[in-house]
Amino acid sequence: MMWMDKEDPRVTFVDRRNEDYEIKPDRAYPSGTTISVRPDVVADFTALPFPDSTFWHVVFDPPHIIRNAELGTVTKKYGVLNGDWKAMIAGGFSECFRVLKPNGTLIFKWCETQIPLRDILALTPEKPLYGHKGGQKSVTHWMAFIKHNASDQATASARRC
Ligand SMILES: C[S@@+](CC[C@H](N)C(=O)[O-])C[C@H]1O[C@@H](n2cnc3c(N)ncnc32)[C@H](O)[C@@H]1O
Repeated sequence: MMWMDKEDPRVTFVDRRNEDYEIKPDRAYPSGTTISVRPDVVADFTALPFPDSTFWHVVFDPPHIIRNAELGTVTKKYGVLNGDWKAMIAGGFSECFRVLKPNGTLIFKWCETQIPLRDILALTPEKPLYGHKGGQKSVTHWMAFIKHNASDQATASARRC
C-alpha cells in the first residue's frame, strides 16, 4: 500500500492482524487477488511493545472506517475502527509519541470520509507542523508532527531567566 518495499529492513511494521484475505474481484482487483497483512510485530497500537523513545520516525496510519465487522475490500485493505474509536485513536497517538525519541517525527495519515480531521486532531494535545491533502476527492490528509524535546524547553527557559 503506502510502502515502497514492505520488506524494507529499516521498517518495523506493526498491525493487530496477521492474515491473508482473498478479495472479491472488481475493476481494480482481478480474481484471485489476495491481500496479505504480515506485520513484523503483531500488537495493538494502543499498547506498543517498545520502550519509550525507541524510534526517530513513526508513521501512524489507522483505519478511518467505523464499522462493527469487516465487510468489503476497503475494510479488508484498511481495517476498521470498532468499539470506542476515540479512545483507540487517542491511545494510538499517545503510544506513537511515547515510542518516539525527542525531536523525532510522526507522520500521520487520515482519510476523512466519515470523521472530520478536526475531530481526530482533538484527540491529541500535540499540534501538526504541516500537512498535505490528496486523493481523488482531497479527503486524504498527511501531516507531520515533531516530538517536543523537554531538555530544549528547559534550556530556552533558562535563557529567558
Ligand atoms: C490503513 S491500514 C494501514 C496500512 C499500512 N500503512 C500499509 O501501508 O500497509 C490500517 C491498519 O490498522 C490495523 N489496525 C486497526 N486497529 C488496530 C489496532 N488497534 N492496533 C494495531 N493495528 C490496528 C488494521 O488491521 C489495518 O491493517
